[in-house]
Amino acid sequence: MYRQARNLVLEAQGKNYAVPAFNTHNMEIAKAVLETAEEMNSPVLLALTPGTIKYVGEEFIVGIMEAARKVYSVPFEFHLDHHENVDDIKRLIDAGIRSVMIDASHHPFEENIRIVKEVVDYAGPRGAIVEAELGRLSGIEDDMSVDEKDAIYTNPDQAQEFVERTGINSLAVAIGTAHGLYKGEPKLDLERLNEIQKVVDIPLVLHGGSGLPDALVQETIRMGICKVNVSTELKNAFASGLRGYFSEHPEENDPRKYFEGATAELKQVVKNKINMCHSGQKA
Ligand code: 13P
Repeated sequence: MYRQARNLVLEAQGKNYAVPAFNTHNMEIAKAVLETAEEMNSPVLLALTPGTIKYVGEEFIVGIMEAARKVYSVPFEFHLDHHENVDDIKRLIDAGIRSVMIDASHHPFEENIRIVKEVVDYAGPRGAIVEAELGRLSGIEDDMSVDEKDAIYTNPDQAQEFVERTGINSLAVAIGTAHGLYKGEPKLDLERLNEIQKVVDIPLVLHGGSGLPDALVQETIRMGICKVNVSTELKNAFASGLRGYFSEHPEENDPRKYFEGATAELKQVVKNKINMCHSGQKA
């Protein structure tokens, strides 16, 4: 079952676009993301948190991924997002996942390096690529909740050492973005991003892509961000699509019909984010 991942994020480096990574919670979202990507000829990542793997089930996830590889021709990978358990990551790589994030960012520096390196050593020979995080974002993603006061920005000097010693393929940076929507106007530490970009030669990743102004994200892309994660705005669109559908058709009981209503809003968000990332026509 050896299959080498196409490193879509590396392909974006230096080309003033980023690959959008959409958190995918079920088959409807997977199809909405892939159909829109295909229409816009954009590379995409479908991000799967541990909670999603648990909800959908590993066999179903792998089945959907394998079916999608047959159906869609646009370049995409199913990507593990914020996975903390090394054994789970190894098992999912064995099952065919080719893009993973090991999140050991809550551990002290040396421990973060040790855990990430173990995943890199496993993933590399199996053709999978690895993202890791240094620093900590605030906000809520899945079961992971980090208070604003516990957020830690990425230290550029440590980032250089972290990348060299782990051998990761991309680095998620903490520069002021948060998981979930922002309470006030989001303020990013672009100076810090610039410092990191100067000393790190691999692609950089921006988490917390929901609720950021497009122009601000585009500025980070010019400064070295090659992958942008989006979750909350997709969840909101799906929920609002369903609410809207049921307010007009309160008696509807056919999931094929009400999911179709929700899918239209989902696809619009995917389209907007592909435009924001300038990834259309980059497949
Ligand atoms: P948002 O929910 O803020 O879009 O963040 C998504 C994310 O970073 C997933 O890892």
